[in-house]
Amino acid sequence: MALVTKFLFLISLVIMNMIFTTQALKSKLTHLEFYMHDIVGGPKPTAVRVAGRANFTSPDPVADMFGSVFVMDNPLTVTPHPNSTVLGRAQGIYAMSSQQNEFSLLMTLTYNFITGPYNGSSFSVLGRNPVMSELREMPVVGGTGKFRLARGYCLAKTFSTDQMDAVIGYNVTLIHY
Ligand SMILES: *[C@@H]1O[C@H](CO)[C@@H](O)[C@H](O)[C@H]1NC(C)=O
Ligand SMILES: *[C@@H]1O[C@H](CO)[C@@H](O)[C@H](O)[C@H]1NC(C)=O
Ligand SMILES: *[C@@H]1O[C@H](CO)[C@@H](O)[C@H](O)[C@H]1NC(C)=O
Ligand SMILES: *[C@@H]1O[C@H](CO)[C@@H](O)[C@H](O)[C@H]1NC(C)=O
Repeated sequence: MALVTKFLFLISLVIMNMIFTTQALKSKLTHLEFYMHDIVGGPKPTAVRVAGRANFTSPDPVADMFGSVFVMDNPLTVTPHPNSTVLGRAQGIYAMSSQQNEFSLLMTLTYNFITGPYNGSSFSVLGRNPVMSELREMPVVGGTGKFRLARGYCLAKTFSTDQMDAVIGYNVTLIHY
């Protein structure tokens, strides 16, 4: 009899543990949409080249840019207009990492929010960005604050360009807890 009671007690512990674990891991799905302003030219660039080949001599611009490393601190806004509400900033490093006939970047960035429901939260992206393609997909590899343990992806689309400057539209899908 004592054995049966002990067994039932153990079973109930296991079930309780399963319930708590399931509750703790209940995931949320969040969709974010914003515009990123990448300003390379002018007196106040938000992305600066910090390393790369000393000489740009080849007639092939892709070959010239291969190996260039940029540090960026780009504002993220609600609309494509540069003076619309700033939601946060995308900060990090990107490198021209393709020798093929395309501008492909390795992106290592953190998108940090300073207003709205995600104030103080961030997510991080690590992936390949073939910037001349219409739609680029980059993986989200983690996050902080409301985006702790985030997994997801960004769909990025160039909204407009002005010489080297660009406004990029982002659709981000995040699964977090
Ligand atoms: C830069 O190019 C010039 C002319 O082509 C060449 O003489 C020089 O050695 C190159 N410098 C470097 C660091 O590659
Ligand atoms: C954005 O605001 C600044 C400062 O108020 C102004 O100088 C600039 O012309 C504005 N830009 C646009 C595109 O409206
Ligand atoms: C964002 O959070 C910071 C730190 O908690 C706070 O000081 C700031 O007022 C908040 N900003 C907005 C717009 O809520
Ligand atoms: C997000 O995706 C929708 C549907 O494809 C598109 O209409 C919208 O312009 C995208 N948003 C941004 C900021 O690019």
